[in-house]
Amino acid sequence: MEFWCFVLGFLLIYGFNSVAFADQEGFLSLSCGGMVSFVDSSSISWVPDGTYVSTGETTIANFVEGGYPFNVPVRFFPDSQEGRMCYRLPLKNLSSLVLVRAKFLYKNYDGLGKPPAFSVSLGTATTTTVNLTSSDPWIEEFIWPVKGNLSLCLQSSPDGGFPVISSLEVRPLPDGAYKSGMGDFVNKLLRKRYRVNSGYSNGSIRYPLDLYDRIWDADQNFSPAHLSTGFSNQLPLDLSSLKESPPVGVLQSARVLTRENALTYNFPIDSLGDYYTVLYFAGILPVSPSFDVIVNGDVVTSNYTVKSSEASALFFQQRGTWTMNITFRNISFVSQVNAIEVFEIVEIPLESSSTTVSALQVIGQSTGIDLGWQDDPCSPIPWNHIGCEGNVVTSLDLSNINLRSISPTFADLLDLKTLDLHNTSLAGQIQNLGSLQKLEKLNLSSNQLTSFGSDFETLASLQILNLENNKLRGTLPQSLNSESVEVRTSGNLCLSFSLSTCNDRSDNSSLETPQVTIFTTRKHSGHNRTAIIFGSIGGVIFALLLIALLMFMYRRRRKGTEITSTPRTVTEMRNWNAAKVLSYKEIKAATNNFKEVIGRGGFGSVYLGKLRDGRVVAVKVRFDQTQLGADSFVNEVVVSICYSKKKGNIPVEVLLLPGSRISFVLLVSLLSQVRHQNLVSLEGFCHESKQQILVYEYLPGGSLADNLYGSNSKKITLSWVRRLKIAVDAAKGLDYLHNGSNPRIIHRDVKCSNILLDLEMNAKVCDFGLSKQIFQADATHVTTVVKGTAGYLDPEYYSTKQLTEKSDVYSFGVVLLELICGREPMSHAGTPDSYNLVLWAKPYLQAGAFEIVDESLRGGFEVESMRKAASVASRSVERDASQRPTMAEVLAELKEAYSIQISYLASREHLN
Ligand SMILES: *[C@@H]1O[C@H](CO)[C@@H](O)[C@H](O)[C@H]1NC(C)=O
Ligand SMILES: *[C@@H]1O[C@H](CO)[C@@H](O)[C@H](O)[C@H]1NC(C)=O
Ligand SMILES: *[C@@H]1O[C@H](CO)[C@@H](O)[C@H](O)[C@H]1NC(C)=O
Ligand SMILES: *[C@@H]1O[C@H](CO)[C@@H](O)[C@H](O)[C@H]1NC(C)=O
Ligand SMILES: *[C@@H]1O[C@H](CO)[C@@H](O)[C@H](O)[C@H]1NC(C)=O
Ligand SMILES: *[C@@H]1O[C@H](CO)[C@@H](O)[C@H](O)[C@H]1NC(C)=O
Ligand SMILES: *[C@@H]1O[C@H](CO)[C@@H](O)[C@H](O)[C@H]1NC(C)=O
Ligand SMILES: *[C@@H]1O[C@H](CO)[C@@H](O)[C@H](O)[C@H]1NC(C)=O
Repeated sequence: MEFWCFVLGFLLIYGFNSVAFADQEGFLSLSCGGMVSFVDSSSISWVPDGTYVSTGETTIANFVEGGYPFNVPVRFFPDSQEGRMCYRLPLKNLSSLVLVRAKFLYKNYDGLGKPPAFSVSLGTATTTTVNLTSSDPWIEEFIWPVKGNLSLCLQSSPDGGFPVISSLEVRPLPDGAYKSGMGDFVNKLLRKRYRVNSGYSNGSIRYPLDLYDRIWDADQNFSPAHLSTGFSNQLPLDLSSLKESPPVGVLQSARVLTRENALTYNFPIDSLGDYYTVLYFAGILPVSPSFDVIVNGDVVTSNYTVKSSEASALFFQQRGTWTMNITFRNISFVSQVNAIEVFEIVEIPLESSSTTVSALQVIGQSTGIDLGWQDDPCSPIPWNHIGCEGNVVTSLDLSNINLRSISPTFADLLDLKTLDLHNTSLAGQIQNLGSLQKLEKLNLSSNQLTSFGSDFETLASLQILNLENNKLRGTLPQSLNSESVEVRTSGNLCLSFSLSTCNDRSDNSSLETPQVTIFTTRKHSGHNRTAIIFGSIGGVIFALLLIALLMFMYRRRRKGTEITSTPRTVTEMRNWNAAKVLSYKEIKAATNNFKEVIGRGGFGSVYLGKLRDGRVVAVKVRFDQTQLGADSFVNEVVVSICYSKKKGNIPVEVLLLPGSRISFVLLVSLLSQVRHQNLVSLEGFCHESKQQILVYEYLPGGSLADNLYGSNSKKITLSWVRRLKIAVDAAKGLDYLHNGSNPRIIHRDVKCSNILLDLEMNAKVCDFGLSKQIFQADATHVTTVVKGTAGYLDPEYYSTKQLTEKSDVYSFGVVLLELICGREPMSHAGTPDSYNLVLWAKPYLQAGAFEIVDESLRGGFEVESMRKAASVASRSVERDASQRPTMAEVLAELKEAYSIQISYLASREHLN
């Protein structure tokens, strides 16, 4: 109510320009969203806020209140989702106490009838949440021991609407005020809850009666309502002991009570907090009353005596309270109180260290990212890309920007625990991180880093280091060979990794350490490659061969070739293994004693299972344990690594040969590193006596083959867009196997039944690294006994027995043809011409003759999308492997076909 008198007052004079007649030194009164300067009925000069805020839009709120029409300018912030919207006010005296008062008013200015809610911060402190639904307007007032310039910021809440403000006032307060009973008043600010001019009921009092423009509300609505106003005998009051300098007018009224009754002020407060209360007493009666003051039932002071002609104040803090009842008791003569102020105490978070702040500012400026970075990085809410613990910056995420190098400035971020610089175009040496002693997680993946520098020797707290997909060469620094560091290194073609101990928790086992053997290949079929063989194969001949090769290698080294594949512990593998090892008993329990078979493959039978933690899994049990003996699990994985020669790098292939049981552990270790959203992930394994069991995530949507050709009820009609999505997903998985994973893997058995779907129809490739072909190696070249699935088999691989990624491309091309034509790769229906899908479909598709497209797709595809897919499918099944696109190219073209189809569907939807 009192507030409305003031609003009315200033609006009546709105638009008049006149000069203030009273001293308003240090006053700053902003009419937010206002366009003109004016002076209100309290003689206060107002100015537009435009010079103090750089965002927001202005408008006028029109409304009727108490029969009067109002037109109040407001500023609202539609862009506030971007972050804090701040007023920045320069203060003349950078170390003093100020009163800051902000008024937020909605009054349906936008006609939407949705009052916003948002939070308000002052400096580093978040002070309050403004909720204009519960009160409109909403006024906040603070007493703030300012250090530096003042910034008042509004932060929108999710779904809270646009923050809006209508006025902002700053008033200097007298030196030393509000300090009694407040300790040092350090790192605290006061939020006004009540300021009552006791005993006075005729409106509120403010400037010029109060030189500091505090607003003293009339005493009403507080029970009991016995008021004694208008003390006419204005005694000369001695105010010298009151630093707060309340206006004399306020002290000239009091609420008084006779000795029979207690006098209680009951102030409702809505939040649990610490409160600071000031009670003002003035000896305006010719008697000196004394009384006890009781707050929330506790006697704060007893026999408090108010002397004639003197003014005094009682200050006290009340901690962690929900209520504020102030009672005066044990009264002699008449008790009285002249004014009351109640404040909530708000802690001001400490500022971050200035070293950190300036380092972050330099990084922000040099990278050009979000220059909204102002004030403190941690408070009231952390800057973008930053995480804090208290006032300490502990994490920084600059991923996916163009940083290029780790500048020396990073060395100043001493408290960082997490630093994410993945995909930031970093090149060259890892540097300038040596001082980050607290660093626990460092992500440098997907960059062009080539060498390690010496930083890792001092990073004592490091726990997780991600170096994936860089160009790192040589060996990992010794300091990273510790058990406490988990190092991820896949995708570094030239980073040597070697194995020494690969812990196997199973029973007996005299585990052989895999030998690392390097030998050059003769140049064949244009591949300038060198092969490394991991593994151990029984047989004297082979052993002799190995020795010969080792000697060969040794000589080469002597001749000056640097071969940097020294054995080291692969901690990451070991950690993984330990976490994922399952006992046969656990497997048996999980599969309910191998009850439900959900598939059969080259590897063996697949059972449905449920792990103890509830994960549903597909359990693959190795087929026929006797055939090859428990110690000779057959597998092959093609791993690309490099060793550096003096002139550049030559890709080297690592072949895991059919060998001892360590192959299985090694296989599992290697496969466990292969993680991608479009690859079925390995969740665990069991390796006990004669058991070799792999546990995979279970995909409930079945295989692509089931969905294309199956007759079961689960089958879903696959539209063209769905087929493209599945193709894109599978291509992503395969591209990752070829180019992203370490070991690099040639799948070698790509087919529709190895593409699985989840319930959202996301596709994942399975059974990579498991194909059952047997490799035979000799000193000069690698041949394989060709086995595969009829209809998918690369004819070039078949004839030359040379294995490349292009074989997968061929098989995937067949999958694409199936998606387009809706038929299996081999069929014995129709004429002999149409038995083989590739031979039959390719000429049609190359000619753009889409009559062969699956009937169920007709009318539902955009021709250009089909043309793209058909073209990439036809080229993928070229006989000559060199004519086929790479998996990355296939992926790119499928993505295009997919997006063309998507926009076609969208436009069709639009027309309907
Ligand atoms: C600024 O404030 C400080 C502390 O409140 C006071 O000592 C000083 O005199 C003030 N300076 C000016 C120029 O007002
Ligand atoms: C605002 O206040 C209204 C009514 O008091 C309440 O229903 C609403 O939940 C509040 N909104 C927020 C964000 O606190
Ligand atoms: C206060 O603001 C002024 C003007 O914007 C600026 O020059 C000054 O450096 C600021 N002072 C502090 C302590 O931030
Ligand atoms: C209340 O204040 C108004 C002016 O603000 C004045 O005209 C009126 O006489 C006052 N009433 C009393 C009871 O003091
Ligand atoms: C404060 O006053 C209210 C109303 O008179 C009462 O309900 C409440 O219990 C009181 N609280 C305390 C702590 O005295
Ligand atoms: C209260 O204080 C007055 C003045 O200081 C004194 O005369 C009186 O005896 C005191 N009463 C009690 C009960 O302590
Ligand atoms: C104040 O009042 C309480 C309760 O009425 C009584 O117990 C206490 O003795 C009184 N104290 C004084 C100093 O009169
Ligand atoms: C890597 O960062 C660039 C911007 O520097 C971005 O365009 C690209 O999408 C990012 N790559 C990934 C895989 O996130």
